[in-house]
Amino acid sequence: MMGDIILSVEGLKARYANAITALEDVSFTLSRGEILAVLGANGAGKSTVLKAISNLLPAVRGQVTAGSVLYQGESTLTRSPAALLRAGLVQVLEGRHCFKTLSVEDNLLTGGLGRGASRAEIAADLDRVYAWFPKLAARRRAISGLTSGGEQQMTAIGRALMARPKLLVLDEPSMGLAPLVVQDIFRALKRLNSEDGLSILVAEQNSAIALTYADRAVILEHGASVLSGDAGALKARDDIRAFYLGQKPAAAPAVSAPLPA
Ligand SMILES: Nc1ncnc2c1ncn2[C@@H]1O[C@H](COP(=O)(O)OP(=O)(O)OP(=O)(O)O)[C@@H](O)[C@H]1O
Ligand SMILES: [Mg+2]
Repeated sequence: MMGDIILSVEGLKARYANAITALEDVSFTLSRGEILAVLGANGAGKSTVLKAISNLLPAVRGQVTAGSVLYQGESTLTRSPAALLRAGLVQVLEGRHCFKTLSVEDNLLTGGLGRGASRAEIAADLDRVYAWFPKLAARRRAISGLTSGGEQQMTAIGRALMARPKLLVLDEPSMGLAPLVVQDIFRALKRLNSEDGLSILVAEQNSAIALTYADRAVILEHGASVLSGDAGALKARDDIRAFYLGQKPAAAPAVSAPLPA
């Protein structure tokens, strides 16, 4: 499945209404069938890149001022978020967005709206989501606002899956969740990737978990992509993680070691 490029970000520059430039120069590509992690410290620009990809920046008074985002070879910057969603570019925003007063199942059903699917298709898609997230099946009648943080994140991801994504984009799915729950979520994402061929772009401050499950990663610093490479190679480099991601190295930096390609 890997090979052709499903998403390509080139020389992306963006700013918000406060005129502060949030992105200076971000470039990376994502091959079909790949999991790519976007890493970076607080404020590095991860969420801004993700919003730019789905053309959501105008909704938060931001704008792309240079560069391009191509999804399946076509610019996303001239298409509405709804049109991109229908084309299979589906984003799970940060903060486990679900409708707190609706049941888990009704939340999932909202994700299937707008693509003209038949009742039978929707029912089949629901079953698929419950197969990926058995915990949701057990909680299908529960009011979302009363479910756990992990269940709410799974609901948000499940809702995105109901839209039949080709590229799933997630902003910090681990945020505020216990390590075991985070592992559950990343395992499900990995299975969706390997068994279903889903391409995944995931922004994370938790580089340890992201690098464990991603194929490749790109690191942002002050709005620029400064390093990218194989996730395993980056994971082995405590010094790089310490330098760019503000994490304490387990050992002294190996300053003479070459950077991963
Ligand atoms: N809606 C907004 N209006 C103005 N400035 C913003 C807005 N959102 C983000 N910024 C600024 O843009 C820069 C990049 O922020 P962004 O949210 O993309 O970073 P991030 O890597 O996602 O950080 P975090 O890890 O905290 O989520 C920061 O300087 C931030 O203050
Ligand atoms: Mg963010």
